[in-house]
Order: sequence, then structure tokens, then C-alpha cells
Amino acid sequence: MDVIHSVAALRERLQREPNNVFVPTMGNLHDGHIQLVRLAKPRAACTVVSIFVNRLQFGPREDFDRYPRTLQADCEKCRSAGADVVFAPDEREIYPEPQTFVVEPSALQHVLDGAVRPGHFRGVATVVLKLFNMVRPHAALFGKKDYQQYIVLRDMVRQLALPIEIIPAETVRAPDGLALSSRNSYLSGSERAEAPQLHAVLMRARARVLAGELHGRIERESHDELSARGWQPEYLAVRRQSDLQPATAADRRLVVLAAARLGRTRLIDNVEVELP
Ligand code: PAF
Repeated sequence: MDVIHSVAALRERLQREPNNVFVPTMGNLHDGHIQLVRLAKPRAACTVVSIFVNRLQFGPREDFDRYPRTLQADCEKCRSAGADVVFAPDEREIYPEPQTFVVEPSALQHVLDGAVRPGHFRGVATVVLKLFNMVRPHAALFGKKDYQQYIVLRDMVRQLALPIEIIPAETVRAPDGLALSSRNSYLSGSERAEAPQLHAVLMRARARVLAGELHGRIERESHDELSARGWQPEYLAVRRQSDLQPATAADRRLVVLAAARLGRTRLIDNVEVELP
């Protein structure tokens, strides 16, 4: 496995690889990322993982500075999972000059996570488009834990006619249901014990959607349930999968999404619901 830090060296290395599949990450890799690498492997001769903490997608009061950076351990995990190339650029490599051209995911950046984190999806779409131009993969994998990110990037590729297949992967969870996330490392012992409740509340909401209850009521009561347990919920919403807009009676493929703070840590999760 090659660990590469510059765009020039990456292009040189990938010249011999007409066919590569890409797993973009911000590092601090856990089993969710490794699952993406494993799913990527059989799809191409060369599996490329990028590790880059992208300042552009963090708000001024967010956790860019304390985001865990564990490059050496990440490389070991990539090697064991069978990655061929790790691309770990520094900021000057990705942003050699101020980024004045950006990708605006217009409608989607104002709902859910986009409403709470202004500019977040602009930062994600912009860096992912740059990384796509550097790696030139034929396919890229994204975990469904970041459901809105997956939808934004799927739409970006479609609307900008990029010749890249976007492959979503199921969320990997701890045995108690907590979705794996690099931010779980911020949780104290008691917060870690409480954290699986986010998934538990979503699963109860999902059962109520399947039972035909009104979405507004489910959203309100699930939100209140989290608050009563000491969380600060940012949103809990039943949406349609296609564009994350509120579902109508005709929509059958839904997703229940939530973001909530537990102490200083912001966690997100979601569960899909397919109505019969
Ligand atoms: O999901 C992530 O880790 C990041 O948002 C991504 C896609 C690597 C872009 O920085």
C-alpha cells in the first residue's frame, strides 16, 4: 500500500490504474470506514482511501481543531483492509489558494443538518468534487449514517454529469445500536452509556411511522423523549428518502433522521422506513 501526500504523486501513481474505487474520509477510521474499504475492494483493481480533515465543512464554532487525527493508526487499518493507496494531503495541497469557486447544493443545504450547520454541505460538496478530480475514480462509497451527505453527493454527481457511481453503504453500529462515528470518542463514560438511546428513539419512531401515526406527532413526541433524557435535540424528522422533504401520503420510502447533542457532543443518526 502506498501512502501519498501530494496531488502530483497521486496522479503519477494512479496513471497506471485505469480503474479505481474511492473511499473519502476524514480519518480516525473505525469499522464503518473499514466496511467501506472492504465493499470497495472487489469493485476495482485499485482502492484509494483519502484522509483529509476538511476545514471548509466546519463552522467557526465547530470541532475542526479537536477533530481526532490518527494518521499512523489509520494507515495500518487501511493496509489490513486491503487498500492500495492512502491519499493524506495537507491543507496547502487541497487549498493552495483561497477556495473562491464552490459547489452549492442549493435546496438541500437549507434543511436538517444544512439548516443547523450553514455552509456545511457546500464545504463537503466542494472538497469531494476536488478529491474526485484528483483521484478520478469510477465509483465512490459513502456511509448512510451521513444520510444527507449521501443524498447531496448523489445529486451532485447526477446534476454535474460526473462519470462516477455513488454507492451507499449501511451504517455500522456498536452491539448496543450506537452508530459508529469518530465523534463517539468525545463521549464521557456516562454519555457513552446513554448514546444508544438516539438509535432506540429512532427505532420507536420508525415503528410508529409503520403503524400509520401522524408524522408531526411522532416528531414532536420523539423530540420530547430525547429532551426528557437530557439530550438537546436539533431535529427529529420523518422525510422522504428521495429529496429529504416532508413526506406526503403517497411517499412509501421514508427515513427518520435526528441530530442531538449529548453534553458537548453532537450525534446524528437515521433509520430508513419502507411502507408496504
Ligand atoms: O464523511 C466524511 O468523512 C466527510 O464529510 C467527507 C465525505 C470525507 C468530505 O470531507
